[in-house]
Amino acid sequence: MKKTAIFYGPEGGRTESVAKQIAELLAEEKPDLIPVSKAVKGDIKKYDNLVFGIATIGKETWDAEPVKTGWFEYMPVLEDENLENKKIAIFGLGDHVRWPLHFVDSMGELYRLIKGKGQDTVGKVNPEDYTFDESEALVEGLFVGLPVDEDFEAELTESRIKNWVNELKKHFND
Ligand SMILES: Cc1cc2nc3c(=O)[nH]c(=O)nc-3n(C[C@H](O)[C@H](O)[C@H](O)COP(=O)(O)O)c2cc1C
Repeated sequence: MKKTAIFYGPEGGRTESVAKQIAELLAEEKPDLIPVSKAVKGDIKKYDNLVFGIATIGKETWDAEPVKTGWFEYMPVLEDENLENKKIAIFGLGDHVRWPLHFVDSMGELYRLIKGKGQDTVGKVNPEDYTFDESEALVEGLFVGLPVDEDFEAELTESRIKNWVNELKKHFND
């Protein structure tokens, strides 16, 4: 059986709660849930299917310290991993009301790392059901993964996740 993992960060908030909901929907795949803060080099090679969950947490003010999501430290580790033949999907927590110019930008950052290694993502999402002005996660007219806005559109999360996971299952069982 193919092996699946959900790597997510930060911990303790909505990213974690969405990661757990996705894990439940992927129960048949028996995914491992791994906070990126605990992930180490070599973890990726254990899996065929990867779901990466990342929140976009920009700096509140110019001189503020960047908020730690775990990804800042893990991205260089991921850069050194072999992603060939992996099915990779991203979901991203964001807030389209307060950050309409940077909506789920971090998904785009992670996507560029994946693309830079010659890979692509599955589970791209049409932006027509979202309201925002700009996003680095928009590539060739599609979101590179699933945006989730628990701050202002929490009522849509369940159906968004369900539809997306159904789409992922087709790719993961290929
Ligand atoms: C300081 C701060 C900066 C944020 N910046 C952005 C942003 O640039 N773009 C965005 O889409 N959401 C932004 N958000 C919203 C978060 O992504 C959202 O609240 C998310 O649920 C946080 O993840 P967590 O609940 O797992 O901590 C920001 C939130 C905070 C507190």
